[in-house]
Amino acid sequence: MGLELSGVGKETDKLVYTPEIGRVTRELYTKVSHVVPEIEWPVHAPYVKAINELKKQKNAVILAHNYMTPEIFHCVADFVGDSLQLAREAAKTDARVIVQAGVHFMAETSKILSPDKTVLIPDLRAGCSLAASITGADVRLLKQKYPGLPIVTYVNTSADVKAESDVCCTSSNAVAVVEDIARERGVDTVLMIPDKFLALNVAKLTKVKIIAWQGACEVHERFTAAEIRSYRQANPGVVVLSHPECPPEVVAESDFSGSTSAMIGYVGTHRPKRVVMVTECSMSDNVAVEYPDVEFVRPCNLCPHMKRITLPKILHSLETMTYEVKVDSAIAERAKAAVMRMLAVGKPATAHAAA
Ligand code: 13P
Ligand code: SF4
Repeated sequence: MGLELSGVGKETDKLVYTPEIGRVTRELYTKVSHVVPEIEWPVHAPYVKAINELKKQKNAVILAHNYMTPEIFHCVADFVGDSLQLAREAAKTDARVIVQAGVHFMAETSKILSPDKTVLIPDLRAGCSLAASITGADVRLLKQKYPGLPIVTYVNTSADVKAESDVCCTSSNAVAVVEDIARERGVDTVLMIPDKFLALNVAKLTKVKIIAWQGACEVHERFTAAEIRSYRQANPGVVVLSHPECPPEVVAESDFSGSTSAMIGYVGTHRPKRVVMVTECSMSDNVAVEYPDVEFVRPCNLCPHMKRITLPKILHSLETMTYEVKVDSAIAERAKAAVMRMLAVGKPATAHAAA
């Protein structure tokens, strides 16, 4: 077979590329050749082949977030999507093992929704500045300070925080969730944690009053309105799409704002000639594979947490069944109620099978 598997699992060891591996992975390379330079493929191909074989043997699925790099997103993922779509997929997959190609809160959400499955994350350090900004104890204090107000919690949080919440939301359903819980509880104000920018952006789209926490995404908070204006100046006619974790003044300068999948959907529907996706920069590469006729202006803000997930680490994860994500059952049960409540709101969004 020509594939040397010795020492697989140690990140430092390299698998060896052979002409045979080149042959069996050719179709996949053709797909990503628009965004992955040919010189890089011999580095990725042995891992792509080994991962695709091993995941079948282990009855595993790889759930990959839209921010994964193209060789993960297009070459080994079984399902790709935004946070909501991946949560829905985790709830319904028949596979015995879920490998989360994303960050820790996503793996926890998968475990909460599929407690009997083995959920693996290839690097335990793949965190999130939003999840790190608030603890379960903080939420208990908030409840004391604002008794009777429902707590709407962004999924970018730990299971502890979700367990203290009334309902979760993602960037694709936040407005619907806020309005639904306010209506159900008969209140005109809700607490929305932990992303202050998402809360401010949602507040502009609803009559429900929102009290926010002070968290922010370290990737999206860096974009500025002046930057957006400079993209427009340098790229006449460019369509600007932004994620609602960006500051409101950035969203105000944009043509459209939505979750990562909503941004992808916009490109698919409108086929702009030129577009800039104001979000984590791997996403433009993934979308460019599908729409080679669209010109992507690519500002590059990388998420250091998402970028911890690599092909060698995914292979290591499958080989060694590490790192298993576990959630205390009492916390998981309460967190699940908040996530399930979210999943019951609005029209279903499903992760799509990776093509
Ligand atoms: P969505 O994919 O749900 O839009 O979230 C973006 C994000 O920052 C995930 O970490
Ligand atoms: Fe967290 Fe932002 Fe990275 Fe998403 S992009 S995982 S919100 S730090």
